[in-house]
Order: sequence, then C-alpha cells, then structure tokens
Amino acid sequence: MKKRLAWAFVWVASGMICLSAAIFIMGMHYHLSMFLKEIPLPNPQVINLSHHFEQALIQSIVWTSVGTIILAVVISFYVAQKIASPLIEMRKVAEKITQGNLEMRVHLEGKDELSELGQALNHLTAELKKQEALRRMLTSDIAHELRTPLATLKSHMEAFEDGIWEPTPERIRSCHEELERLIHLVGDLEQLTNVESPGFTLRKKRECLGEIVEQSVKAMETAFRTKNIQLKKLVSTKIPVCVDRNRIMQILINLLSNALKFTPPGGTVSIEVKEEDDKACIIVKDTGVGMPSSETAKVFERFYRVDKSRSRKSGGSGLGLTIVKKLVEAHEGTVEIQSNLNEGTRVVIMLSKEKPAGCNQEGNGQNTN
Ligand SMILES: Nc1ncnc2c1ncn2[C@@H]1O[C@H](COP(=O)(O)OP(=O)(O)OP(=O)(O)O)[C@@H](O)[C@H]1O
Ligand SMILES: [Mg+2]
Repeated sequence: MKKRLAWAFVWVASGMICLSAAIFIMGMHYHLSMFLKEIPLPNPQVINLSHHFEQALIQSIVWTSVGTIILAVVISFYVAQKIASPLIEMRKVAEKITQGNLEMRVHLEGKDELSELGQALNHLTAELKKQEALRRMLTSDIAHELRTPLATLKSHMEAFEDGIWEPTPERIRSCHEELERLIHLVGDLEQLTNVESPGFTLRKKRECLGEIVEQSVKAMETAFRTKNIQLKKLVSTKIPVCVDRNRIMQILINLLSNALKFTPPGGTVSIEVKEEDDKACIIVKDTGVGMPSSETAKVFERFYRVDKSRSRKSGGSGLGLTIVKKLVEAHEGTVEIQSNLNEGTRVVIMLSKEKPAGCNQEGNGQNTN
C-alpha cells in the first residue's frame, strides 16, 4: 500500500516535470531557430551565441528536472509513509481483535477521515468487549440456574439407585417438579433469545386493547379460581392501539402469572385499562406479598428474584419481567413497577394510542432492532 501510493506520486510528479521540460525545450528551440532565420546576414558569432545559449538552457532544465524528480521521490515516500502508517496500525489492531485481544485500541491523532476510521474501529472493539462480557455473564447465570435442579435430580436418582430412598409418589413428584422447573427455564430462555435476536419482528395491527385484556383474563381465569383469588377486570372504553396482539397477550399473561404466584389465597388481583392523554394505560394490581420498594428497579434484570428460595419453590426463573420489559420497549412503551412489602404490587404499562407509522389493517412486520 505504502509503496504503491509512493510510486503513484512519483509517476505523476515525474510525468509532469518531463512534460513541462519537453514543452519548454521545444518552445525555446523553435523560437531560437526563428530568430536565426530572421537575421538578414548570418553572423557566426550570433549563431555560436545562440547555440551556447540553447545548450545552457537545455542542460539547466535537464538537471533541474532530475533534481526535482529525486526530490519528488523522497517527498512521495515520506507522504505515503505518513498516510499509510495509521492504516497499517489499524490493520494490526484488526488482526489482534480477530485473535481475541479486545484490549487493543488505535492511537488517534488529528481530526481527519483516518482518525474517524480509527475512532470507529475503537468503538467496534469496545462494543465487542461489552458483548463478550454479556455473553460470559449470561453463560455463567444459566449454568448457575441449571446447577440446582440438576444437582437435586442427580442426588434423588442416586438415592433411588443405591436403595437409600424408596421411590415414593411424593419423591417422584419432587423430581417431576425439578424437571418442570428446567423446562420452564429453557422455555423462558428461548423466549428471551427470540425477543433479543436481531431478526425479531412485531406483527403490529390496529387492535382494541380491551379485547386483548379480555382474552388474556380468560386464559388465566381457571388458575385464579383454583387458587381462590378474585380476578377483577376494569375496561372502561374501547382504546385503539397499534400492537402485536400475541406479544401483548404474552406480556399480560406474564404479569397475571406473577400476581397469581405472589398473592395468597383469598386475595384480589385487578387488571385495568384506561386512557391517559395520548396513551393507553394497563395496570395490573395485586394484594399479594409485594416486595421492598428498593427492589423494584432490579426485578427487570435477567434471573433476578427478590426471594430466591420462595421463587424457586414456585418455579420462577426470574426471566418473566425481563421478557415483559423487552416486549414493551419493542412497542415503544414503558413499564413501571411499584410495590411495598406485604402490601401488594402494581405494574403500569403505557403504550402509544396513536397509530404509529408502519401499522396497517392487514398487519405489518416491523423490525424492532
Ligand atoms: N406481583 C408480584 N408480587 C411480588 N413479587 C413480584 C411480583 N412480580 C414479580 N415479583 C418479584 O420479581 C421477581 C422477578 O419476576 P419475574 O417475573 O421476572 O420472575 P419469576 O416470576 O420469578 O420467574 P418467571 O417469570 O421466569 O417464571 C420475582 O421472582 C418476584 O420476586
Ligand atoms: Mg414471572
């Protein structure tokens, strides 16, 4: 690259020097010949002077051209070196990044296009480092989540095998519960991966929010009745929204499942839909165990559970609210949780009521990433 650039400069500069020297010599020769032709009596002294004058000029032009070309070669190599060195450095950094060294950074100088390129490369490396750290954290979180049910299952199986334990229906049920927990975790992980994948799309359509709430409530009714929890539905008006029906149902079912899980029998859970300015507002409220208000900000984090042992017993993997947040954000909405220990929990979702661009009656795949 450096040599190619230098030789390109050299050829251009030499070409220009040679061309101007040739034009100058030809022009001078033509005018001197004209001058000699025009003098009435050819004088040998004048002819001699003219010849020497021409020779002196040609020699000085040739030597000046040679000197200029040598100078052009030196300057070209210097300039090419200056231009190519940041590119060479960037190539080296890119090679190191490919080998897994994400600490490498390009040394930035000035404010030209090359420094912008270096800046972009540094940004890319920082992003790769962040993604790598996230990947490591996620892998260790998953391993941690899988370890407990697998260890329980292993110890139960070994006890059955060695004859230490009789495989009573109760113990088999306990193994079954651990398996259910694993299946639930894998299902949640699958959903989260899907929502976070770059190809994730929403099938947005103009929908009536009340109808979606009604459908979600219907899907959960039996579970609430079985646990003897009253489920109230408060839908005042028909609110048109542009959403992916299935995803909104997924959000509501996740919130209702939480309310069901963390509310003792005899309690009440309500789901309310109302308009607030240009927003559609969904509120899921329960009279359950709640959580300290200091914990509310953390519950949207992956695998976060306020009371690990209690949630583990109820089969929770701590991914439900993470999925809810991702889906609400994909709809350009917001989700908030308010709670107090032993006083219940209130989750508020705000969605845009207007028809966002890209939403039509037939449904429109819209990439959220
Ligand atoms: N309605 C609620 N009342 C009390 N605590 C709640 C409520 N909703 C969520 N939480 C707390 O927030 C934590 C995270 O909730 P999230 O839905 O993400 O996970 P989970 O319900 O434990 O598991 P999953 O939803 O994956 O089955 C829960 O473990 C619980 O501690
Ligand atoms: Mg949940």
